[in-house]
Amino acid sequence: MSPSALFFSFFLAAYSILTVSAQAVDVVPFYSYANDFVDPNYIVAGDFPNTVGGAKATILNWAEKLNAEGPWSVTDKPMLAPSGNKNDYMSWAPYRWPNCTGVGNTTALTPEQIWVTCPYVNRDGQFNPDRLTIKNVLDFSDFSDAVLYNALAFSFQNETSSVYSKNIVKFVNAWFLDNSTGMNPNLNYAQMWRGPDGQVGERTGVLDLKGFVKIVSGILILRKRKSVDWTPEIDSQLVSWSKKYMEWLETNKLGIEECASTNNHGSFCFNQLIALKLLVNDIPGAIRAGNTYFQGIYQNQINSTGDQPLEAARTRPYHYRNYNLGAMITNARLLKYLDPSSDPWKMKTKNGATIQDALDMTMTVHAADSGEEDLVGEIYPNIAAVASIYGDPDGKYAAFLQSNFPVYASDADFLWNQPLAGGTPEKVGGRTGSSGAVGHRGGGITIGALLGASMVSLLL
Ligand SMILES: *[C@@H]1O[C@H](CO)[C@@H](O)[C@H](O)[C@H]1NC(C)=O
Ligand SMILES: *[C@@H]1O[C@H](CO)[C@@H](O)[C@H](O)[C@H]1NC(C)=O
Ligand SMILES: *[C@@H]1O[C@H](CO)[C@@H](O)[C@H](O)[C@H]1NC(C)=O
Ligand SMILES: *[C@@H]1O[C@H](CO)[C@@H](O)[C@H](O)[C@H]1NC(C)=O
Ligand SMILES: *[C@@H]1O[C@H](CO)[C@@H](O)[C@H](O)[C@H]1NC(C)=O
Repeated sequence: MSPSALFFSFFLAAYSILTVSAQAVDVVPFYSYANDFVDPNYIVAGDFPNTVGGAKATILNWAEKLNAEGPWSVTDKPMLAPSGNKNDYMSWAPYRWPNCTGVGNTTALTPEQIWVTCPYVNRDGQFNPDRLTIKNVLDFSDFSDAVLYNALAFSFQNETSSVYSKNIVKFVNAWFLDNSTGMNPNLNYAQMWRGPDGQVGERTGVLDLKGFVKIVSGILILRKRKSVDWTPEIDSQLVSWSKKYMEWLETNKLGIEECASTNNHGSFCFNQLIALKLLVNDIPGAIRAGNTYFQGIYQNQINSTGDQPLEAARTRPYHYRNYNLGAMITNARLLKYLDPSSDPWKMKTKNGATIQDALDMTMTVHAADSGEEDLVGEIYPNIAAVASIYGDPDGKYAAFLQSNFPVYASDADFLWNQPLAGGTPEKVGGRTGSSGAVGHRGGGITIGALLGASMVSLLL
């Protein structure tokens, strides 16, 4: 989706909420969680509390919205990667800017001249709008959300085939498998920068495919719910693609360096690696990767006060704390699913802190203190996850959500972040209800706030 299309669809979402708020509408505008792993066994069992009606309505709505956009393909870009191969994934480094100070030009340079003449320098946290001239990263993000929400929508029906499972097949074929539109299994050209020494990918570009874990959640649901659309043929083709990509990730310098990075980049790299090993049925390998994360870089990610120094040091500390929390939660969910005897939730860093400690500390941080009020909603899915896992005996997590984000029970993640207080019990034979108030992340409805929340997963 182009930025203007994104903007427009959020405007519509906000508008429809405003205009129908008098009725029992309980759909939360589309929002891409930084990452998550949804336990397929929980979904397939379908034993949900009767308070998840709003969450289900939101999931169906998000699936429909995404289905109107897909399929997506890496070949949909206005230029080729330096390889000249249209099937190579490509994206621009978001924070790199041209520095034309020392190039000695005597007249203004055209954009084309700037791209090859001026060295590109990093300005952490400052987006170069240029990055959106290639939208492979946005498209992969939408595609991965589409697989997850279509799989959930499919699971709500007692069918072996539906429009939702058929869409997943169509989308997976277009992005990964189709001979003309499929992606080559490498990220050699992710987060490239321009300039005389650019035109190569950066290790940070591996982050672009973090949503792979959402795809894996969706595929596991199709497998376990025995979708007839998800045939053994397409399954083995995706497994074979994933093995090739995983080989790139584990042997290419960019992949090795990204998984060795100590902050959120490393956490998200492990999200991918663990999920890929799970997808290709290498369960011992997936468990090993999970343990490598928790015994490795995780050890230095939370200090004794629950803060995350590597994220606190960045230009958008509120975003980065929540971003890494999302990645840590995803790694813990994956490891717990893979090895139920493990206990990543109790795993302490070398300074004696857990994921819950990191969340509790982050709840005391005000987004506005660092000018990030538009991103205030990033913490809500993390609170819901922690409440469902560690429990909420004194109700502090539910109370925080209720006062800051009253429709939290209609957010998609309320379905799988259970148990969690909130939501209205479904009426027998009637329509499902939400907790009542209609709003959205962060308070009053403004387009900027909606757009900000929706762009969250694209902050790097
Ligand atoms: C921009 O280029 C000039 C001249 O080469 C150099 O002195 C300066 O440090 C560069 N700025 C940054 C932010 O790298
Ligand atoms: C060199 O090109 C840059 C980019 O177009 C421009 O900002 C700058 O003013 C130019 N320098 C001169 C002396 O014209
Ligand atoms: C699902 O469908 C099967 C086969 O049609 C049927 O036997 C079963 O009772 C259905 N389950 C539910 C929960 O409706
Ligand atoms: C795709 O390419 C493979 C190998 O080149 C070939 O075997 C296969 O038939 C092609 N599939 C289609 C649908 O063209
Ligand atoms: C934890 O990290 C934060 C952010 O870097 C820092 O301000 C705080 O002093 C640290 N706490 C301890 C006990 O080291």
